[in-house]
Amino acid sequence: MSANQRLLRGPLFTCLDDPGEENTPLTGSIRYLEDGAIWIVDGRIHAVDDYQALAGALPAGSETVDYTGKLMMPGFIDSHVHYVQLDIMASYGRELLDWLNDYTFPAECRFADPAHASASAERFLDELLRVGTTTAQVFCSSHPVSVDSFFSAAQRRQLRMIAGKVLMDRHAPEALTDDTLGGVRDSERLIADWHGRDRLAYTLTPRFAPTSTREQLDAVGGVLRNAPDLYLQTHLSENRGEVAWVAELFPESRDYLDVYERYGLVGPRSTFAHGIHLDHEQRRRLATRGANIAFCPTSNLFLGSGLMDRLACRDAGLATSLASDVGGGTSLSGFGTLQGAYQVGALLGQPLTGWQGFYRLTLGNARALHLGDRIGSLQPGFEADIVVLDPNATPLLSRRLSQATTLAERLFAMMMLGDDRTVAATWANGRLAHDRERAT
Ligand code: GUN
Ligand code: ZN
Repeated sequence: MSANQRLLRGPLFTCLDDPGEENTPLTGSIRYLEDGAIWIVDGRIHAVDDYQALAGALPAGSETVDYTGKLMMPGFIDSHVHYVQLDIMASYGRELLDWLNDYTFPAECRFADPAHASASAERFLDELLRVGTTTAQVFCSSHPVSVDSFFSAAQRRQLRMIAGKVLMDRHAPEALTDDTLGGVRDSERLIADWHGRDRLAYTLTPRFAPTSTREQLDAVGGVLRNAPDLYLQTHLSENRGEVAWVAELFPESRDYLDVYERYGLVGPRSTFAHGIHLDHEQRRRLATRGANIAFCPTSNLFLGSGLMDRLACRDAGLATSLASDVGGGTSLSGFGTLQGAYQVGALLGQPLTGWQGFYRLTLGNARALHLGDRIGSLQPGFEADIVVLDPNATPLLSRRLSQATTLAERLFAMMMLGDDRTVAATWANGRLAHDRERAT
């Protein structure tokens, strides 16, 4: 039986390792081919090389897709996003806690309806693929059907996705709150149905400390202890009002992070969104346990939460991933996230390079999610999730890039000026999942 295979031809850029923070990438950390090719066999990358080296090796009759003039990269990754908040992006004028009550919770209530959940999941995935994102770690709502709908849609599209049911048993509308242990049992049913199936994985999702009782957090810790290959996602130290509220609710804890530590929620597969208001010692504690902070710049700017000090995390040995945090975030696009990250960094005197930016969006995020041997890089054996960028997507981008003389300059200008129009095509698991020219 002949394998399903094809060649994608064109310029390609990939990270092989962390390129560092300087404007010259560390030796061996990147690969750029001017006339390259990716040979895909049955959804995986079989070889990556110069086109001329691969052209003759392919079996006769195999398809070659010509992306000459474009730029291929690994599919983008978003380490923290709420699919159930797409409809409330850009809701005016509130900080975190009011924003949750006024906009977020009402929107999430609608996900009790299976038809709404399933239509929203499809819309969200259409949108993700349109912006070149092929993997995300996703918050659903408290309703199990919101998770079933999301995973079904992702499975049909053969996407690698991580998602979980929000757990909340207090301080939220009744329609969204779990029975304390019932919510955990629902999570266990979802784990049994979805975790490890095809390209899907489950992430335990206590929303944040204020909306779970000690009993619920403890039960989540118990599930994680028994199944250490599960992920965990929550929020941490995003907003000063939130930090003060946690101190009131958990007076026995020495700080916000301590609440999660007490219940065994801080591990190598734990992602803590935001982590803005942390000191060095808390960053060290997170680092020691191998957890990561999801840096969500457009959300942090939009909600006025603060400036995440990325290099302070690095100095503490703490991994950071990069995320949109839609609907707090103002862009689902990795480009939007990178532009926000650059701006936050500029205000802190730590401007992000194009190398580091695209590393974070691809292999860096893959590594933070323990997927760095499968996605995030264009290498043999990796899954064929690929984004094809168009340097001529708009007259302005085209003109600006024509003025750039080095790859560093081109990548940086593309990072700062790119948007959804820059994504010409998205491939997932070796299949064309979005084509800008054919899209309506
Ligand atoms: N903290 C608790 N829930 C949320 C949420 O939905 N979005 C953000 N940005 N922060 C949160
Ligand atoms: Zn969030």
